[in-house]
Amino acid sequence: MTRKYRILVVNGPNLGLLGRREPDVYGRRTLADIEAELRRDARRLGVSISFFQSDVEGELVRRIGAAAAEADGVLLNPAAYTHTSIALRDAVSASGLPCVEVHLTNTAAREEFRRHSYTAAVCLGQVIGFGPDSYRLALEGLVRHLRSVGTPRGKVAKRRSRT
Ligand code: DQA
Repeated sequence: MTRKYRILVVNGPNLGLLGRREPDVYGRRTLADIEAELRRDARRLGVSISFFQSDVEGELVRRIGAAAAEADGVLLNPAAYTHTSIALRDAVSASGLPCVEVHLTNTAAREEFRRHSYTAAVCLGQVIGFGPDSYRLALEGLVRHLRSVGTPRGKVAKRRSRT
């Protein structure tokens, strides 16, 4: 049997304020609510999941860098850094991990400055505009991807299990 895939969920600035932050735009669910739902989804999908949130660009860069050694895939909502951060884009790229970009809102339908994402081009795909469900849909997509291609670690585990 292959070991469980490990998914890291990374959330950027101001997402710790969900629930109180512009509820008309971002809804009333808190980040803790979203994480609790994702924990349930991860259990259902048979993967392990961990979470990181920071308002600080360098901390996000560092966490994604560390993930290269300890995770198989990343769900990333870079929040405002989506539209500004080459450092975050480089971190995702350098990690070599499959990453799905997540947004609660449909950034394509909002202000002009939200239309461009620095991170999108180095991600497997994006799930945007479904509110908290964006995370669940992204998790399902990422797990399906990992299962279909197998990560290098997944492949090693499979080979070992046959001997
Ligand atoms: C967001 C969209 C970003 O443009 C914004 O800066 C956020 C949240 C979203 O999830 O919809 O902070 O990433």
